[in-house]
Amino acid sequence: MVVVGSGGREHALCLSLDASAHVGALHCVPGNAGTAQIATNHALTMDIEGLVGLAVDLGADLVVVGPEAPLCDGLADACHAAGIACFGPVAALAHLEGSKLHAKETMEEAGVPTAAYKRLDAHSDIEAALDDFAGDPWVVKRDVLAGGKGVVVTSDRDEAKTFIELSIKSDGFVLLEAFLPGEEASMLVVMDGTAYRTLPASQDHKRAYDGDEGPNTGGMGAYCPAPVVSTSVHEKIVERIVEPMHQHLAGQDTPYRGVLFIGLMIDEHDDPYVVEFNVRFGDPECQVTLPLVKTDMYSLLHGAATDGLQNVQLELHTGTAVTVVLASEGYPAAPIKGRPLGGLEALVAQATYGQAWVNFAGVSTDESGAYIASGGRVLSCTALGSNLLATQQKAYELMNAIDLEGGYFRTDIAHRAID
Ligand code: AMP
Ligand code: GLY
Repeated sequence: MVVVGSGGREHALCLSLDASAHVGALHCVPGNAGTAQIATNHALTMDIEGLVGLAVDLGADLVVVGPEAPLCDGLADACHAAGIACFGPVAALAHLEGSKLHAKETMEEAGVPTAAYKRLDAHSDIEAALDDFAGDPWVVKRDVLAGGKGVVVTSDRDEAKTFIELSIKSDGFVLLEAFLPGEEASMLVVMDGTAYRTLPASQDHKRAYDGDEGPNTGGMGAYCPAPVVSTSVHEKIVERIVEPMHQHLAGQDTPYRGVLFIGLMIDEHDDPYVVEFNVRFGDPECQVTLPLVKTDMYSLLHGAATDGLQNVQLELHTGTAVTVVLASEGYPAAPIKGRPLGGLEALVAQATYGQAWVNFAGVSTDESGAYIASGGRVLSCTALGSNLLATQQKAYELMNAIDLEGGYFRTDIAHRAID
């Protein structure tokens, strides 16, 4: 089988699949220095034809797609055409992440709670719209895959207006959205045409620095399960969001086969609202969610890829997982790459998957085979344990054993559940 992608999420997928009794040869495209330890990496670009050609040549029975871009470009469609099962939706459904307007329209149709919004274009009265949305603060979203850079949340009217005008100029239109107060959580729902399985909710930390300060990032750490999603909140999420979305997505010509990432805001009344949908596992949410799944990972993913999920029961481990991301100096704006990762080799030698371990992301090896940082998010230290505080400390013990010049990490991952 083949895993597509190169981040911490894909290393987490490979680790979890490597533990399955049903996986023979594991291949990763392009993978990273972590996946290389348990899978065969293939240095291909993310070109759809090349990816499917490789899967065919390898006789792969399953392609598991990590990132959204190849899904939006039709990788699942191409796999189906070649007769290979794919975990990840076809392009028409990946559009839920590819277009925020499409996601909003789908939620309206399905009656799913989300923030009110207005589509603005060159003919719109922008001042009137800014008045309508009160601006406490304003939320402006471009309708493009912008890797987290397409959203501006600001109380500065001029900044909101400028971003609206620039976005209309470049994209033709933009969304102005009501601000949802509350606490964020991420829910990963594996689904196919026959069933869905909700994985335990987690919480990401998107800002770069402690106390949720600094610029937005891809995610600086996560923990799972997130207590903000209590049993009663979970029930509301299932009833108001998961059920209607599954009904909609399972009823398409080709059902949604993969994981739906639901970005949630839980308000002060414990009511859940959808902030965004992604059509893939979250990164770093994947790193803390998969280790809590007891069900064989191949059975779960292959089941969903082949409309066999109704025959797969979800079993979970009790306990908690924490992952802390190490970022390169300058991340997210301009990460400095190429610096040595002191202590990592010794740490990897002593780390144990399922207890305390390292998820590689932007890690490569130099000519001498030594580990170097090759990305913005370099790696994450992950731990599993029964008690959240002890689990957090285990993850930080690993992190403190790694030496990267200028590298930084947040020291407060999981603070909302611990304070
Ligand atoms: P998105 O790309 O839609 O997930 O937005 C990025 C981040 O902006 C989210 O993770 C939230 O922290 C924030 N955000 C987006 N939309 C809203 C909203 N309507 N209300 C409050 N915060 C939001
Ligand atoms: N951690 C947020 C995301 O993967 O989109």
